[in-house]
Amino acid sequence: MCGIVGYIGNSQAAPIILDGLSKLEYRGYDSAGMAVFDGEKINIRKSVGRLKVLENLTHGGENMPGLCGIGHTRWATHGAPSDTNAHPHFNAEETIVVVHNGIIENYIQLRDKLISRGYKFVSETDTEVLAHLLDYYYKGNPLEAVTKVLHRVEGSYALGIVFADCPDQIFAARKDSPLIVGQNEDGCFIASDVPAILKYTRKVYYVDNYEVVRLRADHMHFYTVDEEEIKKEPVTIEWDANAAEKAGYEHFMLKEMYEQPKTVSDTLTPRVKGNDIVIEELNMTDEELKSISKIHIVACGSAYHAGMTGKYVMEGLARIPVEVDLASEFRYRDPILEKGSMVVVISQSGETADTLAALREAKAGGCKVLGIVNVVGSSIAREADNVMYTWAGPEIAVATTKAYSAQLIAMYLLAMKLGKVRGVISDETFAELLGDLKRLPDQIELLLNNKLKIQKFANRYIGAKDVFFIGRGIDYAISLEGSLKLKEISYIHSEAYAAGELKHGTISLIEDGTLVAAVSTQPALYAKTISNMVEVKARGAFVLAVTCEGNTEIEKAADYVIYIPETNPYFANSLAIIPLQLFGYYVAVGKGCDVDKPRNLAKSVTVE
Ligand code: G6P
Repeated sequence: MCGIVGYIGNSQAAPIILDGLSKLEYRGYDSAGMAVFDGEKINIRKSVGRLKVLENLTHGGENMPGLCGIGHTRWATHGAPSDTNAHPHFNAEETIVVVHNGIIENYIQLRDKLISRGYKFVSETDTEVLAHLLDYYYKGNPLEAVTKVLHRVEGSYALGIVFADCPDQIFAARKDSPLIVGQNEDGCFIASDVPAILKYTRKVYYVDNYEVVRLRADHMHFYTVDEEEIKKEPVTIEWDANAAEKAGYEHFMLKEMYEQPKTVSDTLTPRVKGNDIVIEELNMTDEELKSISKIHIVACGSAYHAGMTGKYVMEGLARIPVEVDLASEFRYRDPILEKGSMVVVISQSGETADTLAALREAKAGGCKVLGIVNVVGSSIAREADNVMYTWAGPEIAVATTKAYSAQLIAMYLLAMKLGKVRGVISDETFAELLGDLKRLPDQIELLLNNKLKIQKFANRYIGAKDVFFIGRGIDYAISLEGSLKLKEISYIHSEAYAAGELKHGTISLIEDGTLVAAVSTQPALYAKTISNMVEVKARGAFVLAVTCEGNTEIEKAADYVIYIPETNPYFANSLAIIPLQLFGYYVAVGKGCDVDKPRNLAKSVTVE
């Protein structure tokens, strides 16, 4: 979703802004723009399309001289992607310029009021009201104008603002959209996410809701919306800038798939102490864990799919009822949150607007919320009562792979911990499960190293029209994620079905040669899934099966079989998803798609 970068200091701003925006491309965008103060006035260049277009337009920033500027990559919400709707946006005199990430919910009322006072709008965006409203309130004190505007707007925002009258300052503000600021000896920075400025500084400040920052070349001041100055502590970013680079891989997605053994191990290892699992971040005694009567898992996208697997594993290993909700549904369905319920929200970015709103809904309902989050210091991490981090490192490709794998591990750890304290799993079973968990990184590596088989198979399906994924139980959850991977990056229509459900309508879509990927990793359900495979094969489908070593029986019903190594059935998702990720990836590469930045998608969805 939209990305913001700003710089003020002793160097040329434009090249720094372009470089920073390139590190935010993963968030998804459809246009880009930049505003730089040249010593006399503010100049804007913006264009629909990739950042490359803006780079060419500005000769890499060379023809936009100046030491203070703000830039933006826009993911259209209000108004189509166009040069005019691209940010930054000016007031009429071109003396105030704004970039914005988020949605101003009351923009229509504000726009109408401004129009009635003579303001003219040139774009269809909600953001433009901010430029005119700032103009309306600006009487020589920029901080006052910014805070007055913040009192008037409803919705979400991360903002970068420059006033031509005060070109030695940039203003930044935030509510519900991510924003950080940072400083080095050369200048100060604003950005939507750490990778944008990591090359320049590791010392960053997370801007909180309703905070305003005034950045100058050599210092920053933080204020409340009531203009009271506040003190904030910087956070030192520990991870390496290289972690956000491609390191020789053709795509971030491929690199991130290959990082999965490490990610799984990094998420697992710190929580395995001898023969036990210790999740200190839960901050709950065994007694408290025992008293949990129900778990609600809430998430979006792939994180929701990880949550679905979590349901099967937690119900199976800990015998606790688990409900899984899409965050966008949970937040408006007035969920029944009983005493003794625990709410677990899962989010890679920690910024997904619906998941954040669901978290707040749960807290307001009196529940303790555990956040399973990848991005340290993100909004969900800060607002959850307790946070269990997935140590996947920065994930850049829009289609998640390694963060999803890490989320699965978090689900297994929680399920085993709960199963043990509640006396559902014996010590012997626990030890076996732990052994299986520890083997996962090597087994994932093995599957990744067999990528050639999938790659060849994928090449045959570059022209596919529809692909179906089927499975039962955990295999259904795996199918959902496998199907999402394929469709989001290859643009091939794909659906996942609970294998037994296909015949209630969808089977009518099966034609001669339609690919059906059948996931069958649960021995207790092998026979049932084979029956469903036979049903689609009889109607002309080509059946790809993903199953466990030893289940050779499946070859009678499948046309092509991928075997995964033996593990406990509860952990099979971690292995079965690997060939499905590779399949989606190679189909998309074969079709020449922009794998890391699929059309219309955003990595971090900070609007509803
Ligand atoms: C977007 C991403 C998905 C992700 C979902 C939830 O749609 O493209 O890959 O699963 O958001 O994101 P979160 O950051 O909350 O896990």
